[in-house]
Amino acid sequence: MTILLAGAAGYIGSHTAIALAQAGYDVAIVDDFSNSSPEAVRRCEELAGVKMPLYQADAADRAAMEDIFAQVRPAAVIHFAGFKAVGESVAKPLKYYRNNLDTTLTLLECMAKAGTKAFIFSSSATVYGARAAVPYTEQSETGGCTNPYGWTKLMIEQIAADTAKADPDMSVVLLRYFNPVGAHPSGRIGENPSGVPNNLMPYITQVAVGRLPQLNVFGDDYPTPDGTGVRDYIHVCDLAEGHVKALEYALEHKGTEVFNLGTGHGVSVLELVHAFERASGVKIPYRIAPRRAGDLAEVYADPAKAERVLGWKATRTVEDMCADSWRWQSNNPNGY
Ligand code: UD1
Repeated sequence: MTILLAGAAGYIGSHTAIALAQAGYDVAIVDDFSNSSPEAVRRCEELAGVKMPLYQADAADRAAMEDIFAQVRPAAVIHFAGFKAVGESVAKPLKYYRNNLDTTLTLLECMAKAGTKAFIFSSSATVYGARAAVPYTEQSETGGCTNPYGWTKLMIEQIAADTAKADPDMSVVLLRYFNPVGAHPSGRIGENPSGVPNNLMPYITQVAVGRLPQLNVFGDDYPTPDGTGVRDYIHVCDLAEGHVKALEYALEHKGTEVFNLGTGHGVSVLELVHAFERASGVKIPYRIAPRRAGDLAEVYADPAKAERVLGWKATRTVEDMCADSWRWQSNNPNGY
C-alpha cells in the first residue's frame, strides 16, 4: 500500500517516511525542495533500507500532481508541504496564504479525482491561539492566531473537514503538533533550517557548533517557574510514530478527527538549555533578551485522546531529544 507524502524532504516528513517504511508501507514523496534537500530523502532510503520514489514538483501544481497521483495511486496522503516561518508570514502574508492553501486544495482535488480517501494533515498547536488555557485539549477554543502562518493551519483544518463532510467515504486526521525537536538516533537526518533559525532547539545546536555566538532567551519575566517560556517539546521520532498510528486510524475510519501530538509536559527555555548542556557537554552562552512578539507564557498539550483512540504516547525524554539533536548537528554542522 503506497502512501504519498507531500513535503517529506523536510524535517517532520523525513522522519515520518522512515517510520512508515519500517511499519511496512510503501512511501512515495513529492517535494519541490524550496526549503529542503533531496539528500534528506536519499538518507531516508539508506536508513530504512528501501526505495522511496521521489517526485520533484510543487504540490500546488495541479497538472504535475495529477500525473503523480496517476503513477503512485496512493491509498492515503500525508500533507507536510507548507511554509512555516512565523515572522516571515507576518511580513509576507499572501505568500503564506497562497502557498499553504493552494497546496492543500490541489492535494484534496487530486485525491477526489484519484479516489484516495485518507488525508492526514500537519497542523499545529498554534491553532489554539491565545484564547485557550493550558493544557490544551482538542476541544479547547481555536482561533485568535497571532500570525498568518497560524491562520493557514486553522483554515486548512476547516477546508479538510468540510471536504470530509461532503464525502462520506473520506477520512481526515488533523494532527496538532506541539514543539518537535530531536532527530533520528543515527544522526543522519534532522532539522535543517535555512538561514538563522527561528525555533529554539536549532538555535541552541547552532550556538553549540559555533555557527552562532549566543542564544537570546526571549523574556525571563513570564509567570512561569523560572520566568522563561514553557513549551511541550516532543521528539520528532515520537511524532513520526504518531503519524503511523494516525494513518492506521484513517484507513479504518471515516470522518474527521483531531489529535494533539505532545508529551503533556512543559519545559522552560532555560531547562532545555541546561538539559542540552548536560547531553552535549557543551556550554551554551545566552543573554536575556526582550519578549518576542506573539509568544505565550505556557503551551502544553493534554495528549490523552491520542493515547485513548490511537494507542499512541510519546516515550522519549528531554535528554533523548537533546542528545539526538546534538548528534545530528555535530555530525552535520552545516546541514545536508
Ligand atoms: C513556533 C511558532 C509556532 C510554530 C512552531 C513550529 C511562534 C509564536 N510560534 O512555536 O506557531 O508552530 O514554532 O515552527 O513563533 N525562544 C528563545 N530564543 C530563541 C527562540 C525561541 O528564547 O532564539 C523561546 C521562545 O520565546 C519560546 C520557546 O523558546 O518560549 C520556543 O520557541 P520556538 O522554538 O520558536 O517555538 P514556538 O514559539 O513555541
